[in-house]
This record gives sequence, structure tokens and C-alpha cells, in this order.
Amino acid sequence: MSITGRATAVAHPNIALAKYWGKRRFGHNLPAVPSLSVTLAGLSTLTTVEFDDTLTADELHLGGRPAAPGPLARVTGLLDRVRAATGRREHARVVSHNDFPTAAGLASSASAFAALAFAASAATGLSTAPDAVSDLARRTSVSAARSAYGGFVALRAGEPADEVLPATPIAPEDHWPLRVIIAVTAEGPKDVGSSEGMKHTVDTSPYFPAWVDDAPALYARIHAAVLARDIAALGAAAEASALRMHASAIAADPGLLYWTGPTVAVLTEVRRLRARGTPAFFTIDAGPHVKVFTLPEAEAEVTATLLQIPGVLRTISAKPGGGARLDGG
Ligand code: PMV
Repeated sequence: MSITGRATAVAHPNIALAKYWGKRRFGHNLPAVPSLSVTLAGLSTLTTVEFDDTLTADELHLGGRPAAPGPLARVTGLLDRVRAATGRREHARVVSHNDFPTAAGLASSASAFAALAFAASAATGLSTAPDAVSDLARRTSVSAARSAYGGFVALRAGEPADEVLPATPIAPEDHWPLRVIIAVTAEGPKDVGSSEGMKHTVDTSPYFPAWVDDAPALYARIHAAVLARDIAALGAAAEASALRMHASAIAADPGLLYWTGPTVAVLTEVRRLRARGTPAFFTIDAGPHVKVFTLPEAEAEVTATLLQIPGVLRTISAKPGGGARLDGG
């Protein structure tokens, strides 16, 4: 065995307040809408990349097991870009571990590809500046571009002339002590992954063009509310972003419904909490879980309320965290 480059990186998932859903038909994996997220502390992906000139193919181990062909192909796609940029030809062994459930709507692809982009760049001497890592990660997973940075992070929609498109940090992690409480409503991987779900929405939903037209104005409201630390304004606009994203998916043919009964029960309860004066709002990604945002003083009350809802299996709490980095760095 002859290792020619090795690095280990850590990255965290992010939760979008202004949702990304749908790719441009031009360019390389460019988003059709602007998005804005908060990177989480506490939940982590740790990834080691080892380039080895005795390997005959890339290898991927996820959570201690050899990965399925689908995830391996996406990893090879990113490694191919690194090989093309550096003139290297070796294959790599990638060992990745999440300390939270994989592919269950908890944004595991965001932390996975941000960590992989960082580690593969560090192992080969490519730039590990956050904008370089962000652009490389985006080419495989758009939401991963945002996990290159910590705190509150924006990613604009792609334009035809875009050669590169990294995310942009808009406020650091200590800007606002928001809490996110993930109400886990199912175990195991989701039915329709986000890439597949988006493509189906773009191809068949008559509401997709309306979503694309409307998203920039919602994004602007969300951006302003984050900068102003205005939870009421943020909650109204972030809930609208999630609901309109899902409306476009639900209107696909056949309709794409990520929600289950417990998902809807959580949405209803969050609105009840808010009506009683508790600061709380929801967002939903491509899965049945609900992410509830609140402030530190209401965290215990919101958690207790969520745990009483039939179908909520458990909660995971997180706060804003940092960007991708070398392990130990
Ligand atoms: O980049 P992907 O394929 O992980 O897509 C993520 C899409 C959502 O999580 C539903 C929304 C978002 O902006 O993160």
C-alpha cells in the first residue's frame, strides 16, 4: 500500500430557512432559487480521504460498512474533479462517519460532501479556502456548499455565466442564539432522495415555475429577518418557504408527498405554541421530520411539547455552529 495523500475533515449539517428546491437546466448543478441556512453545531460528519496508488477503484466506507453503488458514484464524481484539477490519477479510500442518522432528511448529504470536499482538497494540496471547498462541494450537492461555512449562510441562484458558485456567509454563528429542535418522526432512509425529488418536480410540477418566481422575494425577507434577529418575521417567511417548496413537490405528477401524519401533527402544534406567545416556527426538508426553530428561553417548553405528540419518536437539539475544517484544526 502506498498512500500519496491523506487528510481528515469534519463538517456539520445545515438547515435551510429559505429553501433550495430545483436545479437550473444549464450549468453544473446550479440551484434555481437562492437559499439561506444555518449550520448546526453538535451533529458532525468526520471523513478521511486517502489517495493510494495501489487501489484500482475508489472505495467508500460509511459508518463502518462498504457503501452502496449510488453514494459511491457521487463520491467518485467529486474525486474525479479533484483528480482533474490536480493531474492526479490515484484512486482514494474514503471513510466517513456521521454521529446522527444518515439519509433520514437530516441533511446528511450537506455535511458529507462538505467534509469530503475539504478532506480531498487538503489531501491533494488544492485550496481549502472556504469558497473553494464550497464550490467543489456544490457541484455534487447544492446544500453542501452552505456547510463549508459556519453560522448563517446564503447561496444565490445560478446564472448561465457562472463558472463557480460558492456560498457566502452572512452572519457568524454567535450572531443569534437560535435553537433548532428536530422532531424525528421515522427511522430509516427516506423514500425519494432530494435530487430525484427535485428532478421530478422540475419535470412534472405545474407549480414549479411559480415557486421559482416567488422564491427570491421570500429569500429577501428571510435574509433581512436574520440580520435584524426578528424571529416573528423570520418564522412567517421561513414557514412560507418550506410550505411553498413542498407545494411545488406535492403538485408534481404523481405528487411527491414527504409528509406523514406526525409531520402534520407537529406543524399544527408549532402554530398552537406560537398562538400562545411561544417563539417557534417550523421547516421541513425532503423527509417526514420537522425542524422547529426557537430561542433558548423556550427550548425546554418546545421540546417537552414536541415529545408529547403521538408519532414523535425523539428530538435532537442543536444550535448554530462552525464551518468545515480539518479534524483537530
Ligand atoms: O443539496 P441537496 O440535494 O441535499 O438538497 C437539499 C434540499 C433541501 O434540504 C430540501 C432544502 C435545502 O435548501 O437544504
